Amino acid sequence: MSHTIAIYNFKGGVGKTSTTLNLALSWSRSFKVLVIDCDPQANLTLALSNSSEHTSNLFSISKKLLHDGQPKIEPLEISYYLHLIPGNYQMAAFESNTQFISFGHILFYKLLSNLKHKYDLILLDCPTHFGVTVKSFLANTDSILIPAIPDSFSINGFKKLLHYVSEIEKETPLNVLGIYFNFFRKHTLHHQKVKRQAEKELGKLILNQPVRESIRVCEAHDSNQSIYNFLDQSDVAGDFMALSEEVIERLNSMSIDEVVKDHGIEKEYSDGQSVLD
Ligand SMILES: Nc1ncnc2c1ncn2[C@@H]1O[C@H](COP(=O)(O)OP(=O)(O)O)[C@@H](O)[C@H]1O
Ligand SMILES: [Mg+2]
Repeated sequence: MSHTIAIYNFKGGVGKTSTTLNLALSWSRSFKVLVIDCDPQANLTLALSNSSEHTSNLFSISKKLLHDGQPKIEPLEISYYLHLIPGNYQMAAFESNTQFISFGHILFYKLLSNLKHKYDLILLDCPTHFGVTVKSFLANTDSILIPAIPDSFSINGFKKLLHYVSEIEKETPLNVLGIYFNFFRKHTLHHQKVKRQAEKELGKLILNQPVRESIRVCEAHDSNQSIYNFLDQSDVAGDFMALSEEVIERLNSMSIDEVVKDHGIEKEYSDGQSVLD
């Protein structure tokens, strides 16, 4: 059965795109994987296909879905086991497009239903904002995975993020795969302290496996031809591989409703105005 995972954090530069890329590469060794580049910056598209200009992309497909009931959607084949729906800078226009604001939710439902039966895993590289595109996608995904940087504001940020996400209306509750620390330096006391504190406050929401900071991640983005071989030779590839295994074991483990209740996030924000108003 197919499972849809949104890689999301409202903070930029935490590794959403790098995580999507490397988890997709790891999982495409055992599963049939589709990645959807939902970010108008289209960095994932560039890293996987060496171009960010594809005639068939998320914007053109979304427009077709708005005007045509069941268009034929043909993702780009990166390899037999890894396909991509390319991103495009025009996706930014959706944030203020009245049709998309009203129908984005239904449109992405149609998109994912059209594709689900062809893949084991569908990964969404989300943009940094918490706008219509992100909300429409999160309303239609099974799970969310949150990459994070180990800084002093992390824990407060996680709670806000979980609260925001829990307010999105969904037919079935979103599953939280967890939060993982990227750019982790295991010998830096501050990073160790932030991880310990996060584990104390958020328990099993914090994934065991961090991903170390390594220049290899940037280099791998630029060498899409040899990325498998390239990653195989580095320690950081091992981190992503171990993370991909840990995440797979957690599919369907924690619903967002339980998470906000268990960690008192519901109460903490109960007097505030809804972020979706
Ligand atoms: N573990 C890491 N070590 C070193 N650089 C990293 C790591 N993860 C990501 N980066 C780099 O940090 C930058 C931001 O990462 P990116 O995945 O684009 O973040 P986001 O999608 O959240 O904005 C990119 O240049 C990327 O290559
Ligand atoms: Mg990104």
